[in-house]
Amino acid sequence: MEHKFDIIIVGAGGGGLFAALEAVRTNPQVSIAVVSKLYPTRSHTSAAQGGVNAALANKDRDDTVELHVFDTVKGSDYLADQDAVDYLCSQAPEVVRELENLGAPFSRFPDGTIAQRPFGGTVKDRCCYCADKTGHTLLHTLFEQCLRRGVKFFNEYFLLSLEHADGECQGIVAMNMRTSAIEAFSAKIVILATGGHAKMYWNRSSNAAGNTGDGQAAALRAGIPLKDMEFIQFHPTGLRKSGLLVTEGARGEGGYLLNRHGERFMARYAPQKMELGPRDLVARSMETEILEGNALTSDAGSYLELDLRHLGAEAIKKKLPQIRELSMHFEGIDPIEEPIPVRPTAHYSMGGIDANMARTAVSGIYAVGECACVSVHGANRLGGNSLLDILVFGKRAGQEAALEAPRRPLRRVAPSALWKAADELKSYTSHERYERYGIIREEMGKTMADKVGIYRTEERLRQGVEEIRALRERFRHIRLFDTGTVYNTNLVQILELKNMLDLALCVAETALVRQESRGSHYREDFPRRDDEAWHRHSLCTLEKGGDVRLAHKPVTMGKYSLETRSY
Ligand code: FUM
Repeated sequence: MEHKFDIIIVGAGGGGLFAALEAVRTNPQVSIAVVSKLYPTRSHTSAAQGGVNAALANKDRDDTVELHVFDTVKGSDYLADQDAVDYLCSQAPEVVRELENLGAPFSRFPDGTIAQRPFGGTVKDRCCYCADKTGHTLLHTLFEQCLRRGVKFFNEYFLLSLEHADGECQGIVAMNMRTSAIEAFSAKIVILATGGHAKMYWNRSSNAAGNTGDGQAAALRAGIPLKDMEFIQFHPTGLRKSGLLVTEGARGEGGYLLNRHGERFMARYAPQKMELGPRDLVARSMETEILEGNALTSDAGSYLELDLRHLGAEAIKKKLPQIRELSMHFEGIDPIEEPIPVRPTAHYSMGGIDANMARTAVSGIYAVGECACVSVHGANRLGGNSLLDILVFGKRAGQEAALEAPRRPLRRVAPSALWKAADELKSYTSHERYERYGIIREEMGKTMADKVGIYRTEERLRQGVEEIRALRERFRHIRLFDTGTVYNTNLVQILELKNMLDLALCVAETALVRQESRGSHYREDFPRRDDEAWHRHSLCTLEKGGDVRLAHKPVTMGKYSLETRSY
């Protein structure tokens, strides 16, 4: 079966939905469809709790776009491309006001302006929020607007491949998850907005089960480079047992981090910013406390405490209602009465599809949001800049695509792409010497957490690379036992695992090669930042045999030159 559209957007989180909305608004004549493996309101944008940064100056009257740019560049450990950061921060006030006008119910200050709270690694308080459900509300607002404009959705379709010929976009191949039918979507333009890949850390991750890097893996197999894959952000406060997110907004509202001696240990690591240091620094400090025996222990592992009790019941119920619910459901504690048990959790992939202001190396293929690396986050993202990233670059990609589509011919997906996909799916049912999905998935998660975690060394990274290579080899014999065609979730899990394994190898290999410490990438054997050798982006492509080939490219500098980073 073949569908034909001017623009296909893959992914229905905030980036994909804003791209769709902006494309319709820019040019109602172009035909647009959103293809998503989830029902749109289940997308991971809804898990972004704490807020979206914009220099509105509602709280700190002297905040400016320029200060937002500086915080972002410094936060990135100077690996962000400064032209992209300038664009991100300068668009921020407009997109936040636009979302407000579209109906997003932002929390308010008493004077009626959008409320802003402190977030980590910033000199001004500029994080705009909707209690602790910011992503959820923005996602619903955008989805409503897309429905109102008649955007067509293909929900529960799994991306199998990205197709292009002679450097020009042809479309995608996807599987209808309801029927297992393989379908072609020919399109003049494809916008990938498929989310991140930090679920490869499996049960040490804040990510939803669906964050398996499907767009990145499809791009990699289509020959589009991935950039800065070694940079994985650990969020300081994941719930002890599940890794679920406890928003940075909880510290923004005044929460303390405590070790087993009841000490606010951040005073030793970031005396000025304390709990509101940047995420890489706070997560590393917490890991150090755990490794040095200053953590509390439990059957569920070592943990530290996030104490909100002094904020009072009223503030917790009003500003952090979801955090209270999650703590009660997943840890059995009420933060009004007891501290929350937390530890760092894999949260965000700074790396992704190499994109220049959302455009990839293939004409007609765009990438936005967490699946992309437009290099606004560099080696460490600031909290509150990811919702901003999806809004700003989702909107930009939608607008550019709608203007560009009428000038492009439709190049159709070749039938051979469908046959190839069908052969692959069939092969999973026919392996005689077989491997099981669940075992490989568990081992991948453990390898990534133990060998490619917060603290890295050459020895552990080498082991990590070898283990992921071995798992990829074993994956060749994976067996699909469920041969049904209706909602075959086992098949989807296998396809997701294939994607995560390819990306895990990219993460481990780039981490092994980068012999310095920068942002989230901390090498115990190379503890200093080495600008002379390593102030550059990493690029990964896949060779025919499946090995990863590495290259580098320069960082775009601007107003801010390299400086030592301290907080
Ligand atoms: O902590 C948080 O609420 C997460 C926000 C973000 O990752 O930007």
